[in-house]
Amino acid sequence: MSGRDLYERALAVAQRAYAPYSKYSVGAAVRTNDGNVFEGVNVENAAYPLGVCAEKSALVRAVAEGYGPGQIEAIAITASPCGGCRQWLHEFGIAEVTFPDTGGALLTRSVEQLLPESWDLPE
Ligand code: THU
Repeated sequence: MSGRDLYERALAVAQRAYAPYSKYSVGAAVRTNDGNVFEGVNVENAAYPLGVCAEKSALVRAVAEGYGPGQIEAIAITASPCGGCRQWLHEFGIAEVTFPDTGGALLTRSVEQLLPESWDLPE
C-alpha cells in the first residue's frame, strides 16, 4: 500500500474521531512490515490535556497486536504530526511519514527530517 493509499485510510477513519471540544478530527493509519494496517483517531476528553492524538492511538493499536519498533514502516496522518507525536514516531523508527502541507499537498518525510538531533534514553 502506497503512502497515498495509507493517507486515504487515515482520511476515512478521521470521520470516527471523538473531538467534541476542538471539533478538529484527525485520522492516522500505520503500515507494518508484513503489510497490516492499523488505524487511529484523536480521542478528546472534557479534562482537555487527557486527550490522545490520532498517531498515538494508531500506534497503540499496532502494539496491542504485537508490533514494535522496527516493525512499523509507514504512517499517514491527516495533519502534520505534533511535536510529542514526532517523539513517538522516533521511538518506533518509522521510515515514511505522510501528511498534508498547509496547502493540502501530500508530503512524505523520514522521522529524522521531522525530528532532527532527537533524544534517546542513554543506555
Ligand atoms: N491532534 C492529533 O490527533 N494529532 C496531531 O498531531 C495534532 C493534533 C489532535 C489533538 C486534538 O484532539 C486536536 O487535534 C486539536 O488539537
